[in-house]
Amino acid sequence: MTREEQFKQLEKFREEAKLGGGEKRIEAQHKKGKLTARERIDFLVDEGSFVEMDMLVRHRSKDFGLEKQRPAGDGVVTGYGYIDGRLIFLFSQDFTVFGGSLSETFAEKILKVMEQAMKVGAPVIGLNDSGGARIQEGVVSLGGYAEIFLQNTLASGVVPQISAVLGPCAGGAVYSPAITDFTIMVRKTSYMFVTGPNVVKTVTHEEVSSEDLGGADTHASKSGVNHLTADSDVEALQKVRQLISYMPSNNMEDAPRIKSGDQPDRIDEKLDSLVPENPNQPYDIKEVITSVADNGVFFEIHEDYAKNIVVGFARLDGYSVGIIANQPAFLAGVLDIDTSTKAARFIRFCDAFNIPLVTFEDVPGFLPGTHQEWGGIIKHGAKLLYAYCEATVPKITVITRKAYGGAYDVMSSKHIRGDVNLAWPSAEIAVMGPKGAAEIIFKKEIANAEDPEAMLAEKEKEYREKFANPYLAAERGYIDEVILPRNTRLRIIQALRMLENKVDKNPVKKHGNIPL
Ligand code: HXC
Repeated sequence: MTREEQFKQLEKFREEAKLGGGEKRIEAQHKKGKLTARERIDFLVDEGSFVEMDMLVRHRSKDFGLEKQRPAGDGVVTGYGYIDGRLIFLFSQDFTVFGGSLSETFAEKILKVMEQAMKVGAPVIGLNDSGGARIQEGVVSLGGYAEIFLQNTLASGVVPQISAVLGPCAGGAVYSPAITDFTIMVRKTSYMFVTGPNVVKTVTHEEVSSEDLGGADTHASKSGVNHLTADSDVEALQKVRQLISYMPSNNMEDAPRIKSGDQPDRIDEKLDSLVPENPNQPYDIKEVITSVADNGVFFEIHEDYAKNIVVGFARLDGYSVGIIANQPAFLAGVLDIDTSTKAARFIRFCDAFNIPLVTFEDVPGFLPGTHQEWGGIIKHGAKLLYAYCEATVPKITVITRKAYGGAYDVMSSKHIRGDVNLAWPSAEIAVMGPKGAAEIIFKKEIANAEDPEAMLAEKEKEYREKFANPYLAAERGYIDEVILPRNTRLRIIQALRMLENKVDKNPVKKHGNIPL
């Protein structure tokens, strides 16, 4: 072969790889409203920054006629690129090649980028679009999946891992995205389930569509498997870019500080009248969050799941922070099973990646009832408590209104290593709400009173005046300061600056045993 022929051969292989499963299948992919694996990469990374690895890998199968179809790349595009100039590793499954199904070599390609990402300390982004295990390969494919699950687990807490599910993701294949830190799905084109609608029908006789069983909205609102929903591949990839901007590249670094030009001492008088005088009236905690965040930008995670708690990322004076906030506008902000697991997972992500926690607290307590008790609110609530207790990142808490009972302890109180705990003058910090408290401690007086209702109201008032305020906690130093709501942004930023070099440690151990 002449040098020219050698170069041509290489070019031919490259062209073959770039064409994936061929024009027809690319067209079919587009018709479904989906981008191809390579188009997705173009939207994900900075222009021209993608460097491909293993483009010429081919599978080694010899069964069911596969030996005659050995496309270059084998159905997954892997490599590295940059997002806002920061290194990331990625794999993008190509549905046009054997339905994006995972073979032994396909798995090896994914493992290679994951291992490389761990060595250099960079996030891994998986773009999933696959029919699952390559059926013709049998157990070899299953082994490949298992090795990916292992690598996902080893990488957990070392480098951020994000899964965009942009097509089918079924069977055990769902467990790789599930182990990663965040999952993003696209309405109408992506779905995740352990067993699909046909198996469900056979086993449980339920008739359910793929979308209802495991579509983006289902997992965003019912199961919580999906953290972020998009209406198109492009929107999903933009969300991945945004999400990455809030995190460091690995667990040894801090998230990039990006100054926005928003003044740190900007006051917001609107906050002074946000909390209604009637303690039973709701307000939207997101108004507080967007008020304090740089330029009002809040990147919410799990927006449609367990809405009585709000979690997500924001910047304050450029610092990336994780926000956890009880939401009085939904079920009075009560803590329950789903809110506990939602917030606990988010807190653990932030703690693993050195992202300070800012907690806004207005919580009447834990939700009572058989549904909650039998569902294990004790162990699930304990997850939230455990997550806050073990977190060593800077922890700042602002109590805007209610902080009752165990929920007071749980929501990043001073007692569990809260660093800076602030309260608005409207804060009510006590063992329980005034009505419940009066009913218990003045039971006899109320029962013997001529007008029990009037007596209850009087005792409730007495209790409210005495205990439903921030000053008893402030007297003890459980609250560092009672602040005017309008100054909240500045006070949090001051705390973040003060805590910038905070060092705290947990005892040496193999790992803790979070109540699962
Ligand atoms: C090999 C596969 C494949 C697979 C799809 N294809 N899935 N090839 N192994 N798992 C091929 C098809 O033969 C077809 O090839 C092409 O991909 C596109 O598939 P279509 O069926 O035409 O596409 P569509 O109608 O969009 O349906 C997509 C689909 C369906 C819903 C994903 O293909 C499907 O149900 N596939 C099987 C899913 C499955 O049961 N996988 C195993 C799950 S168990 P041609 O040549 O015609 O284009 C599993 C275990 C993992 O994954 C365990 C980990 C622990």
